[in-house]
Amino acid sequence: MTTPTPAVVSSREELRDALLAATLGSPGAAGGPARRAVVMTMGALHDGHLELVRRARAEAGPDGQVLVTIFVNPLQFGKGEDLDTYPRDLDGDVAKLGTVGADLVFAPTPDVMYPDGDPVVRVSAGCAGQVLEGVHRPGHMDGVLTVVLKLLHLTRPDVALFGQKDAQQLLAVRRMVRDLDLDVEILGVPTVREPDGLAMSSRNAYLSPEERGQALALSRALRAGAEAGPRGGAPAVLATASGILNAAPGVVVDYLALVDPDTVEDVPADRTGPALLLVAARVGTTRLIDNQAVDVVAAPETPAVVPLTGQEATP
Ligand code: PAF
Repeated sequence: MTTPTPAVVSSREELRDALLAATLGSPGAAGGPARRAVVMTMGALHDGHLELVRRARAEAGPDGQVLVTIFVNPLQFGKGEDLDTYPRDLDGDVAKLGTVGADLVFAPTPDVMYPDGDPVVRVSAGCAGQVLEGVHRPGHMDGVLTVVLKLLHLTRPDVALFGQKDAQQLLAVRRMVRDLDLDVEILGVPTVREPDGLAMSSRNAYLSPEERGQALALSRALRAGAEAGPRGGAPAVLATASGILNAAPGVVVDYLALVDPDTVEDVPADRTGPALLLVAARVGTTRLIDNQAVDVVAAPETPAVVPLTGQEATP
């Protein structure tokens, strides 16, 4: 579907006016206010982002409004991370957004988002931000939640959509919405993959062709781990996935974890049921994350061998 190129605003005032104009100009199907769906991004958009926007369009409906924010948030980058080199292509992003039904783009500068410099008051992700990513990127999740909360206040959506690839981020956002009584629905959208399994990410652009091949070990390990779930329980899931990652050339693992999808806590070895297998690894200088849902089934007992007696063997 081709729609007109979305309008781009960068100041708070322009955003407020555009939101007001949309609210006045477009009553919802039942005559009430039209639904607004927001997709927050850092730009360098790929098909994974575009899928979020397509879903946002479906959520907002034909009379609703789809708003995409593009902002590389300094608060969520640590020292020595890729804040300065993070890919930026606003014109290219806006052109892509025109193909998937976005109505409006909010692309503020850091001065607009943080007019007083670094914010003194921030959101703490608490324990949801201290494990996994939090161990390797201290403060990252607090920076994410702080900007997400600000963008929710500025854009006032009915629904905000986030990719399941950033599983810990999605969980932390859901937790913030619950714990701080925010009046917004949060929707998780499945990860979009390249045909060979690589999870789409703006950071894939950093990979050399050789590293791109090496990076496939992440999705391969997750798939193999998930396939081991119905056979050997949690220990088999982890052993299978780590076997593949440890044997993969050029891949340095930050963590591999099998967690409860609601709490991100490690699942005990004897736990059965739905779980999430997550990996973060560096391929060259590029840090990638991925995850996969796993159905953990109890490890089978050593199969009992029942010898046939002469009588049973005789028909
Ligand atoms: O997932 C991202 O792209 C970012 O973490 C987000 C949610 C836009 C906040 O900066």
